[in-house]
Amino acid sequence: MEDAAYGLKDYYKNYFNMGVAVSANSVKNKNASLILNEFNSLTAENSMKMGPIHPAENLYNWKDADSIIVFAKNNNFKVRGHNLCWHQQTPKWLFIDSVGKQVSKEVLLARLKRHIFDVVGRYKGQIYAWDVVNEAISDAPNEYLRNSEWYQICGEEYISKAFEYAHEADPDALLFYNDYNEISATKRAKIIQLIKSLKKNGVPINGVGLQGHWAVNEPSYAQLDSTLSDFSKLGLILQITELDISVYPKEHNAREKQTIDTATTFSKEKEAKQSAVYQYCFELFRKYQKSINSVTFWNVSDEHSWLDNFPVRNRKDYPLLFDTNNKRKSAYWEVAKWVK
Ligand code: GLA
Repeated sequence: MEDAAYGLKDYYKNYFNMGVAVSANSVKNKNASLILNEFNSLTAENSMKMGPIHPAENLYNWKDADSIIVFAKNNNFKVRGHNLCWHQQTPKWLFIDSVGKQVSKEVLLARLKRHIFDVVGRYKGQIYAWDVVNEAISDAPNEYLRNSEWYQICGEEYISKAFEYAHEADPDALLFYNDYNEISATKRAKIIQLIKSLKKNGVPINGVGLQGHWAVNEPSYAQLDSTLSDFSKLGLILQITELDISVYPKEHNAREKQTIDTATTFSKEKEAKQSAVYQYCFELFRKYQKSINSVTFWNVSDEHSWLDNFPVRNRKDYPLLFDTNNKRKSAYWEVAKWVK
């Protein structure tokens, strides 16, 4: 018999914290009981990102982030902070002055410092780990760092500065570099190059966040094994920070829905493929349990996922362990019950 009160956090209590990305709403609505039952770690899906939390130079929206923190405190959850410096969902004011001209490196770094001090300072002692820099590596094979406004204005230095400011703001918080498509050998090599150079320069970094937005056709077992092996050699903490496994073959670029995209029910075939991938992902996470201490799913259940609109706009996806009615899927049992 399934024990309904026994959740992912219990199955994995000797392995990892089990986390989920939430909104201020999802910790209050009907998802709350599922979250309480299954997880012991939270990430704010959007509420702590720079755009939502700091939309104008002298304006902070603390409300949603605060309510996630209160839920976590009342229910003994760990909280991962996400994120302090990114090229997306970044407010416009940050990069320009009062007449719309691009700001200097000094001004931008001072703004970054103030942002980090304000946000990290507010949640000091309540957020144990921060994604300090998100997605700084370029996806273009011949380009190392992403040519973002951060990079255009500050060069590479914005990355080390962000870590230094975060460490100064909360010396006890664990600081992560977080990125996606870490399973690609080319991108992985660049992420590892960045981490090594930060370490060599004495930058306070404690871990690497592997986002894990994957799909039924990738990563293969061997690809994920070599990915985790390569990252574990860095000697830092590894966390899987944004896990979901799309039921459609991976596509990296956004596009409109087309006639070929009509098969959008969660068929037995999709279910079987997805369960198999979830099974070996967790088998490998357990293999690297010395390095990995947390796994976070990106959204609660198939009722709502960011993948419903990405990469194909308005195509329903089913990437999580709970179905559209919040019931455990077969993939759940592949993850939960590995001792058959
Ligand atoms: C990236 C970001 C997340 C989120 C996802 C899409 O992975 O790190 O915060 O925006 O994209 O939901």
